[in-house]
Amino acid sequence: MKIIEVQDYQQMSRRAAEYIIKKVVQNPSINLGLATGGTPIGTYKCLIEDHQKSGTSYQKVTTFNLDEYIGLSGDNENSYRYFMDNQLFNYININKANTNVPSGIAADFQEECKRYEDLITKHGGIDLQILGIGSNGHIGFNEPGTSFSSKTHIVELEESTIQANARYFNRIEEVPTKAITMGISTIMKSKEILLLVSGEEKREALARLLDGEIIHESFPASVLKNHPCVTIIADKVAIADLKVQC
Ligand code: GLP
Repeated sequence: MKIIEVQDYQQMSRRAAEYIIKKVVQNPSINLGLATGGTPIGTYKCLIEDHQKSGTSYQKVTTFNLDEYIGLSGDNENSYRYFMDNQLFNYININKANTNVPSGIAADFQEECKRYEDLITKHGGIDLQILGIGSNGHIGFNEPGTSFSSKTHIVELEESTIQANARYFNRIEEVPTKAITMGISTIMKSKEILLLVSGEEKREALARLLDGEIIHESFPASVLKNHPCVTIIADKVAIADLKVQC
């Protein structure tokens, strides 16, 4: 794992956007894996600015999002489809038909999981996956204890995840308790991974990831140590006084 230390959230967002733009320019038909949450919002803003200023084209890009809440349709403001449309897709020249988010309202979720997994495979896999990290070490919505061999699947969200994500909802009771997420093995099949980490509330998770904790399903992000091509962009507050050895 390669770690890039940056000053703050702003710089993390800029560096991450530069990283993504370079890849898109090198491979205009790239398959991008995208994440939601507060962490990548700044990165998406920078991608939009660059698109407007420099004209980086997303016409041939295909995207696959990590996850979606069960029970929320794409027009629900708290759905991840809505998030992606409004934080990124509506402001770049991507073909919406090429943007994929698992369905939170499928009639048959087992079928939807299989469809999503097969879709990624059919497209030749993800070239670059953007990831955030939960304070309990979750990636996507893969909570502690998720099998490293998991494919796209349905999960019960941990109380701490529900609490952390409640800030986006009017009331905590509105936060869905289940989600559909790429599995750990789905994420690990990506050719390259870019993990973004910012803020004090991620400090402990980053420390657990970097400070030599063993690779174990009880801390999902630890699996990233088995991946040949992971870059972490983390800000000073998240890194704190860690002795980084990658
Ligand atoms: C959410 C998402 C993850 C995200 C993480 C951190 O639950 N499912 O993909 O990386 O939690 O979110 P944030 O960036 O808002 O801290």
